[in-house]
Amino acid sequence: MAGAASVERVKDHATGLDKFVLREARGSSVEANFKPPKAIRGGIQICFPQLGNHGVLEQHGFARNRFWSVDENPPPFPVSTSNCHIDLILKSSQEDLKTWPHSYEFRLRIALSPRGDLILASRIKNVSTDGKPFQFTFAYHTYFSVSDISEVRVEGLETLDYLDNLRSKNRCTEQGDAVVFESEVDKVYLSAPPKIVIIDHEKKRTFVLRKEGLPDVVVWNPWDKKAKAMPDFGGEEYKNMLCVGAAAIEKPITLRPNEEWLGKQEISAVPSSYSSGQ
Ligand code: BG6
Repeated sequence: MAGAASVERVKDHATGLDKFVLREARGSSVEANFKPPKAIRGGIQICFPQLGNHGVLEQHGFARNRFWSVDENPPPFPVSTSNCHIDLILKSSQEDLKTWPHSYEFRLRIALSPRGDLILASRIKNVSTDGKPFQFTFAYHTYFSVSDISEVRVEGLETLDYLDNLRSKNRCTEQGDAVVFESEVDKVYLSAPPKIVIIDHEKKRTFVLRKEGLPDVVVWNPWDKKAKAMPDFGGEEYKNMLCVGAAAIEKPITLRPNEEWLGKQEISAVPSSYSSGQ
């Protein structure tokens, strides 16, 4: 979850004692499980080669559950990011080839701009020698920390078509001026504009999400019942989070051998005097 650090007192259900959690700096649920191989509940999850259950692989694909290596000497980057960055790499493993028989190199650059914007840029290349193309779907499943979900507005998605995962991926059209939250939401907005704005009224803070190469946007909040059913999700935490992330789902990306795809997401946190027209 993006945001400044804050310390919070929470009840440890196992011991009944209070514990203190460095919350936003850690960027995850207080109940998050840090034991590999499962991804932690929070941060920005890299969903590849599949988003959610839009395919036959494990939920959100395997990339988020793998150990990545530091990419010491990446090839020159095709877009500008920032000098303050780290490069990671994930390659097809023998194990993963059994379920997804395609050879790829996935290079991820995580960069911080001088004014604190967080930039994630993914380059995925088909390095197979069998001459065959492959297809994938993708998302940066981004957990934002918000003060009160019922006060949050998301601008940029109004009037768009979306797939509603709560209604068998039915295609619907968003109505109204902005997206607001009163119950569980699990949607994929289609062909969204390059800039989405998440306005957190109470914290007087606005997140601006900019995207390239990723036409769609995932929006998710499990609300109370589903949150309680998830062992790594604090029961009341649904009130203080919202997932919004750049994605490519409706039209899977196709890569022929040696082709490379680039998908970038940039998040800025700005005071809420910011107007979404800027
Ligand atoms: C959403 C999916 O994108 O992510 C939901 O549509 C899912 O079905 C949610 O519950 C969180 O996924 P996970 O695997 O991290 O619990």
